[in-house]
Amino acid sequence: MSNTAKLELDGIAYTLPTLTGSENEKAVDVSALRATTGYITIDDGYGNTGSCTSNITFIDGDQGILRYRGIPIEELAEKSNFIETAYLIIYGTLPTQPQLKVFSDLLTDYQYLHEDMKYHFEGFPSGAHPMAILSSMINAASCFDEGLMNWKWGKNKLFDIYVAKLISQVRTIAAYSYRKSKGLPLIYPKQNYKYTANFLHMLFSMPYEDFDLKPEVVKALDLIFLLHADHEQNCSTSTVRMVASSQANLFASCAAGVCALWGPLHGGANQAVLEMLADIHNSGDDGSKFITAAKDKNSGKKLMGFGHRVYKNHDPRAKIIKRACDDVLSKLHITDPLLDIAKKLEETALKDPYFVERKLYPNVDFYSGIIMRAIGIPMEMFTVIFAIGRMPGWIANYKEIMEEPKSRIYRPRQIYTGKTTNHYIPMGERK
Ligand code: CMC
Repeated sequence: MSNTAKLELDGIAYTLPTLTGSENEKAVDVSALRATTGYITIDDGYGNTGSCTSNITFIDGDQGILRYRGIPIEELAEKSNFIETAYLIIYGTLPTQPQLKVFSDLLTDYQYLHEDMKYHFEGFPSGAHPMAILSSMINAASCFDEGLMNWKWGKNKLFDIYVAKLISQVRTIAAYSYRKSKGLPLIYPKQNYKYTANFLHMLFSMPYEDFDLKPEVVKALDLIFLLHADHEQNCSTSTVRMVASSQANLFASCAAGVCALWGPLHGGANQAVLEMLADIHNSGDDGSKFITAAKDKNSGKKLMGFGHRVYKNHDPRAKIIKRACDDVLSKLHITDPLLDIAKKLEETALKDPYFVERKLYPNVDFYSGIIMRAIGIPMEMFTVIFAIGRMPGWIANYKEIMEEPKSRIYRPRQIYTGKTTNHYIPMGERK
């Protein structure tokens, strides 16, 4: 088989190199196209554009496959936990016992925020969205660290510490954002709690009165973190890589990822799903009317939690999370009318030609909101939970771009469609 592609433009034939990935994914390398032909490629929404080569995560959207560093998501969901998986994603291999201990100890050592950061939390109005606080405070945290302020990749041997700091502190900042938005006293992390239990403690304990940490709740939240830990070149990860390509520091790059994640078409979908289910419930609909509206382009409605740019068969994370959802609800003896509506929507949509023809299946956000609601996570924190989970993926992508000797600043081109040369008109002559 040829490892080149042929292209003819304006009667001239060009040969372009091709690339094949380790899972046989194929690409035409157009990096020299403009220099040799004067043409660029246009790919609105980047659906056909590979922005990099990467060895972190593999997705086969047609077959519903997701693997972190080669390990299927189903195996990790069953056998691993968030922190071990975070290590795998960032460093490339599962940790040995001593490596895991060093990593966990670093997370504990760096979980406290600089005390002065409390004053920054004071500045936000109550009711501020925790995603806004999260991105601002991750960036603000870098102001308290000289190494981050004078960041130079390569000269900085403390990267492992910054990794631990960010993974640990994003959880502390997230919990503080919520406490601040509710006017509740801030709760410090505990030395002896593991990652996810510690987050729930900071979110829900009161001074001198610890929150009752139910094992099934801790396990469910840890699974949600793990399932969100990476997802190759999605909108927020591409944003992190974009910012990183300018050599911005790790915290600044990941704070930008939080902003990109916030939108309802990306991480904000988990909150949007719950809002949609609550609206359906409150309107007395069982989901049937809503499905009709979601198919009508003029209704302004979409079936949130359905569809994915990459998955065109099923989202493997959705399958795992649906099982976990049933499990948690039955263990906690919770019945939730919104879950009944979600099941009805799923059942109806999966049989409806509109959704079938467009290959629209439930994605990870369809059921994650219901679990989070069942375990008491406030709705405005749903996307924040996604951000905590995605942090290892963002960090691994940051590291990958920095370690690549051929990395260049990301700088796409455009086709200009505006006015050709035009002239300045003085104010008095304008019509
Ligand atoms: N409800 C109704 N119609 C839909 C939906 C939906 N949820 N999603 C896509 N469609 C239709 C869309 O209108 C289009 O129809 P047509 O071909 O007639 O114009 C067709 O399906 C293809 O959709 P698209 O918008 O071109 O697909 P995309 O790849 O650009 O967008 C998406 C993917 C996830 C943004 C989109 O499916 C969507 O908006 N879903 C709802 C929001 C959501 O659940 N987002 C979470 C994504 S998973 C978490 C993450 O990784 O961020």
